Amino acid sequence: MLNIITLGDEQLRKHSILVPDLNGTVHTLIEQMFESLREYKGIGLAAVQVGSLYRLFITEVGGDKPRVFVNPEILETSLEQASYEEGCLSIPGVEADVLRPQRVRVQAWNEKGRPFTLDAEDLLARVVQHEFDHLNGVLFIDRIDPKKRERLVRQYYTAAPL
Ligand code: NI
Repeated sequence: MLNIITLGDEQLRKHSILVPDLNGTVHTLIEQMFESLREYKGIGLAAVQVGSLYRLFITEVGGDKPRVFVNPEILETSLEQASYEEGCLSIPGVEADVLRPQRVRVQAWNEKGRPFTLDAEDLLARVVQHEFDHLNGVLFIDRIDPKKRERLVRQYYTAAPL
């Protein structure tokens, strides 16, 4: 089982780097990330959350197949936005409504190294954006009202054993 790093760990704020090659090490990482995602009952996980600074994330949203996004780029976002309560395996116990574009077009490579373009909407679009943010060191709490963020972070550190 991979250890999931949590808020306060500097690594979460780092910019991930391009995956140069889909070799065996990367495949093992992807497999282990899916194991962790299922174990923690999450719907998305970025490599940085398990301590790897590769630009890759996985999703497994209910009703959708498991997906791997290597070196993803968000090509387009819809003007329509939607608000939805988000959480993050790296900030356990914290949830907040986040406003994001309802649809995105994302381009990436899958686990076989094949390029694809995906038009995602609703929950999948949200997870893609949330995980993509992780690759740039951005957390969902960065996208909420600063006063609310301050309160949630204070609660988090009060509740979490350091
Ligand atoms: Ni997250």
